[in-house]
Amino acid sequence: MRVCVIGAGAAGLCAARHLIAEPSVTEVDVLEQSGQLGGTWVYTENVGYDDFGLPIHTSMYKSLRTNLPKEIMGFPDFPIPDSEKSYLPAKDMLAFLQLYSDKHGVTRHIRFNHHVQLIKPKQGPIGELWDVTFKDLTSGLSKTKEYDYLFVCNGHYNTPFIPSIPGLKEFEGDVMHSHDYRVPDIFAGKRVLVVGAGPSGMDIAYEITSVTKKVILSHHLKEQPRSVFPDNLVQKPDVKKLQGKTAVFQDGSQEDIDVVFLSTGYLYNFPFLHASCDIVVEDNCVEPLYKHLVNISHPTMCFIGVPYYVCAYSMFDLQVRYYLRSMNGTFKLPSREEMTSHWEDEKQDRAARGFTKRQAHMMGPDQEKYYASLATEANTSNLPSVITKIREESSIRFLHNLQSYRQDVYKVIDDDTYEIISNGKREILC
Ligand SMILES: Cc1cc2nc3c(=O)[nH]c(=O)nc-3n(C[C@H](O)[C@H](O)[C@H](O)COP(=O)(O)OP(=O)(O)OC[C@H]3O[C@@H](n4cnc5c(N)ncnc54)[C@H](O)[C@@H]3O)c2cc1C
Ligand SMILES: *[C@@H]1O[C@H](CO)[C@@H](O)[C@H](O)[C@H]1NC(C)=O
Ligand SMILES: *[C@@H]1O[C@H](CO)[C@@H](O)[C@H](O)[C@H]1NC(C)=O
Ligand SMILES: *[C@@H]1O[C@H](CO)[C@@H](O)[C@H](O)[C@H]1NC(C)=O
Repeated sequence: MRVCVIGAGAAGLCAARHLIAEPSVTEVDVLEQSGQLGGTWVYTENVGYDDFGLPIHTSMYKSLRTNLPKEIMGFPDFPIPDSEKSYLPAKDMLAFLQLYSDKHGVTRHIRFNHHVQLIKPKQGPIGELWDVTFKDLTSGLSKTKEYDYLFVCNGHYNTPFIPSIPGLKEFEGDVMHSHDYRVPDIFAGKRVLVVGAGPSGMDIAYEITSVTKKVILSHHLKEQPRSVFPDNLVQKPDVKKLQGKTAVFQDGSQEDIDVVFLSTGYLYNFPFLHASCDIVVEDNCVEPLYKHLVNISHPTMCFIGVPYYVCAYSMFDLQVRYYLRSMNGTFKLPSREEMTSHWEDEKQDRAARGFTKRQAHMMGPDQEKYYASLATEANTSNLPSVITKIREESSIRFLHNLQSYRQDVYKVIDDDTYEIISNGKREILC
């Protein structure tokens, strides 16, 4: 079996790490458009386009530290090395991925500066095959190669989602998305409207208060953050409209602003999939995928890392082990009809519980159930529940204690129990 992995971020590295250990896999090519592994965790001052004219992939900003403790950010078989702090700077995460890749012999399988342009299924002598067209960016030459299996690991925090706010196009000040944010200096002396209070929105709103005249953080969080913000930050509900250089909010209040800063998240984007791949992305829902992973129309194509609000690297590892077991015959994927009805049932269940279509791949409270369903079907080991417990605890502290939650130190005690040292106080939780 010849396998192509698209992308050398955490997901692609994890896929390759297991694929090269699998006897029935004869060839593993990881195609990576940049000159470096690590995806999200590669910091660059540049925004816009790179030297080859491709959109800059990374959304990393200079000051970033992880929003989850390292104790739950490693791989199940390769934890992040011990150190004093739990919340790491981006460069430590990048060094960890480099170590993971080198230790498992993945790095020599990566073809750097290889940009995947087009993927098309075709009929082979016994089943379906994939034609992958990629461009060697250094030589400028494109080539097409045939594979039996495809792992799509191109990440999904790169294509900005721009909300439709009335008056945004005509806004008379600057408009910017968090994808292009690197350092706070650009906002010196300005009045900045930050739209969205996800991890990036909260962090950046807080960080830029040090240089701005005023920050207006507009959000619709169900739970009001109890974090204490500096005096030059005010919170507002959603923006109703923009007029000239004024923002009008849902509660009727108004603020004069210089910049609209959109921290409104990202869109799934697979520009290299030919229409015949039958994958549709609409309102940020990728369909049809069985268990958010297997392309139901073409089961020899899988997507690693689609779900969010998860313990990402642990989940990548479980998804890869699951899919590999279907490839090597440890278990058989259900029929197309069964996979389709499974996905339709899941969609209905989610809708009944108030999830919108946009939240089709949001896990959060569903993650334990999701992990268990993969592990059970493939008869592979499940992830320990302690990681979801730590994730939950860390998220609460992020919301209500933004200034200091990154000083907390976690330690996993066993599959169910952990320790947290916060403000000099030690607690054991389970
Ligand atoms: C600012 C920010 C902070 C984050 N902080 C955290 C955190 O604290 N904790 C956490 O768990 N998660 C965090 N995340 C989520 C993070 O993105 C994931 O944890 C994870 O690193 C994603 O890995 P990935 O491999 O799916 O994607 P990526 O890291 O995006 O890697 C995808 C790779 O594919 C390559 N690629 C894309 N298209 C092509 C193509 N056509 N041809 C060839 N190569 C291609 C890219 O160059 C890239 O190297 C954060 C994300 C962002 C944006
Ligand atoms: C599944 O593969 C087909 C064939 O390449 C593609 O057209 C389709 O977009 C893919 N579906 C998804 C959800 O990626
Ligand atoms: C199938 O793949 C899994 C996951 O990599 C591996 O643990 C298992 O040993 C493989 N089985 C066979 C028969 O190769
Ligand atoms: C599941 O795996 C275990 C070994 O890890 C094995 O003993 C057992 O027979 C497997 N069960 C099934 C249903 O294949």
